[in-house]
Amino acid sequence: MAFGATHLSLALSLMALIVLAKADFNEKVEPINNIMEQNSEMLTQEFCILGAVGSVVAEAIRRERRMGASLIRLFFHDCFVDGCDAGILLNDIPGRFQGEKSSPPNDNSVRGYEVIDQAKQRIKTTCPGAAVSCADILALAARDSVAMLGGIPYPVRLGRRDARTANFTGALTQLPAPFDDLNVQLTKFRAKGMSAREMVALAGAHTVGFARCVTMCDDRNINPARKSTLNCGCPVSNNNTNLAPLDLTTPQFFDKFYFEDLIKNRGLLFSDQVLMGSSATADVVRTYNSNPVLFLREFNAAMTKMGDLPPSRGAQLEIRDVCSRVNGNSIADM
Ligand code: HEM
Repeated sequence: MAFGATHLSLALSLMALIVLAKADFNEKVEPINNIMEQNSEMLTQEFCILGAVGSVVAEAIRRERRMGASLIRLFFHDCFVDGCDAGILLNDIPGRFQGEKSSPPNDNSVRGYEVIDQAKQRIKTTCPGAAVSCADILALAARDSVAMLGGIPYPVRLGRRDARTANFTGALTQLPAPFDDLNVQLTKFRAKGMSAREMVALAGAHTVGFARCVTMCDDRNINPARKSTLNCGCPVSNNNTNLAPLDLTTPQFFDKFYFEDLIKNRGLLFSDQVLMGSSATADVVRTYNSNPVLFLREFNAAMTKMGDLPPSRGAQLEIRDVCSRVNGNSIADM
């Protein structure tokens, strides 16, 4: 009897355990289902965003291949001034606000703003409800450009936020200039946490794109050995639109020929050619020239690191509705 009772209580205990476990299981399963649903929704949104940006960038590059280079530079000029906060995209408001866009290193030089606006618009129409910052769109557009011009695609982390202001003088002081010697360049990159090797990898972006004749006709900015290759007719007026390729061999392709140019003393900018001026950087140039895949991999790693440069401490951040202005502005500010 006692034995039977023991068995019964054991059986009951087991049943209770099973019921409890089932209840517990149900409680656990519900949230897991919710999380999975939320995650799959987030994934769908992210795919949608990636597709929207990718298609706009592909169309832009199909229209004009140089635009890929311009988008890579746009991202660099955003991230190097107070972090990747889309500050460069903000329009000036005459008499009230002067931002990065009109600062001398960017003014009439940096391009691609309209492609970022188109991408923002396409996300709005094709991925309703998706909250993506203009800073994230810049990062995606740069990555897509690298891949579409012949580099290797790399993953881009999302979640950046847009600043409510921009730094006119920061663009002047934080960005490297074409007349900067090696030490000045190293100091500016070190200030952003970049080593000499990462600096050389990033400078490899000059494997694509062009400089304006107006930049190249200033003797301080050019490698004297490239003067004879210019098709500029210097001196030129400020509105001259002629261009000089940064990489003399394959300016349309993201490859290693920029480094070969440097080895042959055919870098375009003064700041390009001085990379051969110290063994610390010249050795990296030679390594990338002889191992192009290593260059592409290290370029991607450095771009990813640059893409993580945080906005200034205490900066007010948001997800802008229109990339060229902060949210909640009056019509007069447009
Ligand atoms: C190391 C210091 C650097 C200096 C001094 C420098 C300077 C310049 C200058 C002066 C131009 C031509 C601008 C014009 O004539 O309007 C240019 C173009 C360009 N830069 Fe740099 N740059 C540097 C680093 C970088 C980095 C790190 C990237 C990207 C990761 C980059 C990407 C580009 C691209 C792609 C172009 C061609 C843009 C186009 O065709 O629209 N540069 N750069």
